[in-house]
Amino acid sequence: MNQPAQNDPILSVRDLTVEFRIAGKWTPVVTGVSLDVASGETLAIVGESGSGKSVTSMSLMRLLPPRQSRVSSGSIDFAGTDLLAMKRRDLNSVRGAGISMIFQEPMTSLNPAFTVGEQIAEVVRRHKKVGRREALGTAIRTMEAVGIPQAARRARAYPHEFSGGMRQRIMIAMAVCCEPRLLIADEPTTALDVTIQAQILDLLRELQHETGMGMIFVTHDLGVVAEVADRVVVMYAGNIVEQASVHDLYADAAHPYTHGLLKSMPTGARTAREGIYSIPGAPPRPVEFPVGCRFAPRCSFATAACSAPAELIEVGVEHVARCLRHGEIDLRIEPSRPEGALHV
Ligand SMILES: Nc1ncnc2c1ncn2[C@@H]1O[C@H](COP(=O)(O)OP(=O)(O)O)[C@@H](O)[C@H]1O
Ligand SMILES: [Mg+2]
Repeated sequence: MNQPAQNDPILSVRDLTVEFRIAGKWTPVVTGVSLDVASGETLAIVGESGSGKSVTSMSLMRLLPPRQSRVSSGSIDFAGTDLLAMKRRDLNSVRGAGISMIFQEPMTSLNPAFTVGEQIAEVVRRHKKVGRREALGTAIRTMEAVGIPQAARRARAYPHEFSGGMRQRIMIAMAVCCEPRLLIADEPTTALDVTIQAQILDLLRELQHETGMGMIFVTHDLGVVAEVADRVVVMYAGNIVEQASVHDLYADAAHPYTHGLLKSMPTGARTAREGIYSIPGAPPRPVEFPVGCRFAPRCSFATAACSAPAELIEVGVEHVARCLRHGEIDLRIEPSRPEGALHV
């Protein structure tokens, strides 16, 4: 089998800002996001709930509700095509065969009234000019490829007849049946137990190896990132706060938020001794994003300087971080500060 080409950029996002109409006012929810994904590569997007991971992913597929949301700036280049300039009806040719997506909760995306074989075949027919029988054949082969035993028989079953893990495999089959060049997986394993989660991650890696597709893997779990990704984007309050290779992020995190996320990961010995660390406070909602560094109100390293907006700066080779105090602080040495002493 041919090795998939590496480093061939398939998706380039520049300065993407997405706004939602919140209480009658257009409010930025995701701001200034730039990222690239190459064929055969996995980019993880990680961050706490509400940081803008799903809004970013959905905007790449132009799946956000049109009247309540808008892309107010930026560009999305997919295989040489500007997705933001495309007419809505032309987007259907990109979705499925170009970019496809899997979501956290398979049950909400499957129609309970149709067999899973019919539903996968329907996706095939939407993108390929093939007859019903041939589409069903492709559906069954894809079900085999994603590890569903007795696929020809199981294709005639309905979604509720499958376990959660098997349903997620069906969603993956639906997403890959038209051989997309980019797969966006938004928390695809969050609802699954650990063993099944590992199997699904293996499956995604295998499919990627076979097809050379690029992948965006969205998760709130840095532990999963190490398993699947080549590079990582860390999001906080609608911003990218750090971007690096997986290796550099774990070895040399440059942003206090990333450092906090790494510290929050359960690791056997430390957890048993000290309990699980969690970053104090909660992320701001879009209507209350601070003018300055958005993480400053929760950051133990913040000073008055952090009331200014923070830009992404280069902190290493292909490693950027959005911290005004980079170079001044040592993330391993937590400053002690009386609570409430800092107001930014
Ligand atoms: N339809 C919507 N209308 C208004 N705000 C929304 C809508 N969808 C998401 N948001 C807001 O956008 C922010 C980012 O959400 P989301 O991308 O879903 O976060 P994540 O996927 O990282 O958990 C959240 O503050 C959320 O409340
Ligand atoms: Mg989400």
